[in-house]
Amino acid sequence: MYRSWIVKLPSRARFSTVCLHAGQEPDPSTGAIVTPIYQTSTYVQEELGRHKGYEYGRTQNPTRLAVERNLAEIEGGRAGFAFASGMAAIGAIATLLRSGDHVIVSENVYGGTFRLFDKVLSRYQLSFTYVDTSALDRVEDAITPSTRMLFVETPTNPILSLTDLRAASDLARRHDLRLVVDNTFASPYNQRPIEYGADLVTHSTTKYLNGHSDSIGGVVVATRDEDIEWLQFIQNSQGAILSPFDSWLVLRGTKTLAVRMAQHNINAQTLAEFLETHPKVKQVLYPGLPSHPQHELAKRQMRGFGGMIAFDVGTMEAAYSVCKRVRLMALAESLGGVETLIGHPAAMTHASVPKERREAIGLTDSLVRISVGIEDPADLIEDLAQALR
Ligand SMILES: Cc1ncc(COP(=O)(O)O)c(C=O)c1O
Repeated sequence: MYRSWIVKLPSRARFSTVCLHAGQEPDPSTGAIVTPIYQTSTYVQEELGRHKGYEYGRTQNPTRLAVERNLAEIEGGRAGFAFASGMAAIGAIATLLRSGDHVIVSENVYGGTFRLFDKVLSRYQLSFTYVDTSALDRVEDAITPSTRMLFVETPTNPILSLTDLRAASDLARRHDLRLVVDNTFASPYNQRPIEYGADLVTHSTTKYLNGHSDSIGGVVVATRDEDIEWLQFIQNSQGAILSPFDSWLVLRGTKTLAVRMAQHNINAQTLAEFLETHPKVKQVLYPGLPSHPQHELAKRQMRGFGGMIAFDVGTMEAAYSVCKRVRLMALAESLGGVETLIGHPAAMTHASVPKERREAIGLTDSLVRISVGIEDPADLIEDLAQALR
């Protein structure tokens, strides 16, 4: 009887409509408009071999299935797989590789991704070369006969350097590589890599997709049949699934993704412009500023420039002082929540990256990073102004 209530998404539904409705339908047993948290480990079968498509909670869960369908549509992919964290999602992608394979990775990749590749996966006869993927000729030079994957983060964390997604995907096609894009920083509101030819998109849903700093999770959105089949198998085999409650939280988060991201974009642009004129700030890194070396590329492949800003205050002491003096902004790891967070990447998010590597990629000790929230931007400017004073 609830069938008539099911929201039928128009085939050309716009982004915010997709965020709100994709993958969700009124609960078949009650009509509840919000997908319930199916907090169950198993499902009763009518008789041997007869069930409703759900056998065991690691393998199938309706709340997780709803968020997976939701995220797959949001990214424009064919299937989504939700994992216990962003790192578990990246770990699952790595299982597409076989011993002896080589991967080219954006040199300024998230520190945890570098750690997984460098300290864990390199023990399994996989090799990784870190390249400035904003210069694709360097990627081409790094390709060997065993290269199978190009793993790109754009914009990068925290340097905010961009990779040309269209050109990267052309290159990947030419050399028969899988193009994987970690789209955590931009969010699908600002950038949809599959439209440019990416094969796999991954997110730490912990960040913008959930958006409220109250869940840890990850997702892989896939486009190719063989990857979909394998990821489904690996999700069940390794078992690093997203819990029903976290699935529900992410679903709630994506309902407001479009409105949150629009405000993150406005606030970050406002703060970046303020910082750029501040005498104590040496440099501001934000793709929305004309001074950003890849501003034109950002305009081409991004709908908005995101909520992340990095700025250089000249010395490590000055960076520590800003982080200490802010009052409204919270000194904390992570990003993508509604509240503004400030951090010192070299000592916090990127402490696992050796100092020489950090310096080589421009991640200096005097760099401060802000995940700009959706507070009133005037309050954020006042807070930064007093901290810089
Ligand atoms: C770009 C990026 N990818 C992946 C991750 C890992 O996500 P999680 O912390 O959910 O494991 C992070 C975490 O900060 C990140 O910033």
